Amino acid sequence: MALAEETKRIAAQFEYTDDDVNKGVHEFLRQMNEGLEHDGTSMSQIPTYVTGVPNGTEKGLYLAVDLGGTNFRVCSIHLNGDTTFNLTYSKIPIPKEMMVAEQASDLFGFLAKQIELFLRTHHEDHFEAHIRRRQTVSTPEGYRDEQIFRLGFTFSFPVRQVGINKGTLMRWTKGFDIPDAVGKDVCALLQQEIDRLHLPVKVAALVNDTVGTLMARSYTSPGKTSTLLGAIFGTGTNGAYVEKVTNIKKPVEGDYDKSTGLMVINTEWGSFDNQLNVLPNTSYDIELDKKSVNPGIQIFEKRVSGMFLGEIVRLVIVDMLKKPEISLFKDENSSHNDWKSTTTIGPESGVFQQWGIDSSIMSIAAADGTPDQSSLRQELEKQLHIYAASLEDAQAFRTVANAVGRRAARLSAVALGAVVLQSGKLQEAGDDPVDIGVDGSLVEHYPFFRDMIYEALAAVDGIGPEGAKRIRIGIAKDGSGVGAALIALVAANMERKGVV
Ligand code: GLC
Repeated sequence: MALAEETKRIAAQFEYTDDDVNKGVHEFLRQMNEGLEHDGTSMSQIPTYVTGVPNGTEKGLYLAVDLGGTNFRVCSIHLNGDTTFNLTYSKIPIPKEMMVAEQASDLFGFLAKQIELFLRTHHEDHFEAHIRRRQTVSTPEGYRDEQIFRLGFTFSFPVRQVGINKGTLMRWTKGFDIPDAVGKDVCALLQQEIDRLHLPVKVAALVNDTVGTLMARSYTSPGKTSTLLGAIFGTGTNGAYVEKVTNIKKPVEGDYDKSTGLMVINTEWGSFDNQLNVLPNTSYDIELDKKSVNPGIQIFEKRVSGMFLGEIVRLVIVDMLKKPEISLFKDENSSHNDWKSTTTIGPESGVFQQWGIDSSIMSIAAADGTPDQSSLRQELEKQLHIYAASLEDAQAFRTVANAVGRRAARLSAVALGAVVLQSGKLQEAGDDPVDIGVDGSLVEHYPFFRDMIYEALAAVDGIGPEGAKRIRIGIAKDGSGVGAALIALVAANMERKGVV
């Protein structure tokens, strides 16, 4: 069979039609509402105790840390109160062994150490003053409140939240696996390690990155529109949106500010449709899931987010390489007969290893519109040690990668469309935009990702082309930093008012 023909056949398995999009939205709405009714559902719909979004006038200096992807970020944020902010940060790659450490304290101790280094580098004055004070007061309670940094802790994993700075880890996602931490309060775990190092820091707020993105977008968003939804399309995918408290049928324990009638809900949509009622399920999706650290869960995420897309492409490519009748990356001079050695791919290539293809190459494939695919061919060689790829080879790779990327974008539209419909915002009079803040490598770097989302949104019943035009999807940069700072501020105000 010719290569082009086989590639087309495989790519077709990733088609996700308008009809599929509508079925997806319908089921998404059903699972969202089920999650608002009781616990233990596929989508967790976690109340966050954040009861409003900012308007840009908030002020102050806060710390924020972010754990949830491949890097740990520590930052300090100065909110200027005029929709602008100044941010200083450092980014530290998380060592692989920390992601699967024996003890929770190994990971959290490492994080506290990074906070200390950051304070010493960027806030030395504050730090030194603190050390001097420590010599005169003996307990942390002895410090005056304003001498302590409030820290927003962006922890982007499913957490059962029971207060603005309290929540127990439900399960790890995105390749982390430290069973010792599951069921524990992650704020307490971090505070313990911070106290061990005697740092002047109070973990004031627990924040999911999507909630941070929502808050950051609302603080900076153009005009007076408040933001409806914050979403991440990066290593993982998830969204948090503003829900009416009356729609939350399950009990919300603990104290929160009841005056707004609203509460931000962390959907944990990465776990949408774990039961596979409507999601597409190719043999490649099945294989990926089976070999993952969390089979059977985060099923939506495994079709949408950056951590997994490269692996889907890899599984397709391996499948094609194993077929003797098609010629993909073939070494015509090889006298071997095992499938690996008959290719022009170096044995060290990521093609032969689980997770060995990074999704970033998909962005290069999508962007390379040149007739000879020169930048993609270069990248295949550089990143994947695929030598002497022919034009047909590169085209086949590109077709597969684009099909996987396009399906991810259209699935993303399912989530966004459903939340917009749930809010009823399009039915409200006027032509105010329905504002959505997004962040993550896919929306930032994958070419046309947002365009493909808009195209699918226009096909959703109840949205249509006119509705899609009213939906404004904007990048919320530094959501996890600014957003976490904003929530630390909310927490400080709640404390002052005696709500918590
Ligand atoms: C995963 C996490 C979720 C997070 C998302 C994006 O889905 O479970 O909490 O928001 O990744 O980082």
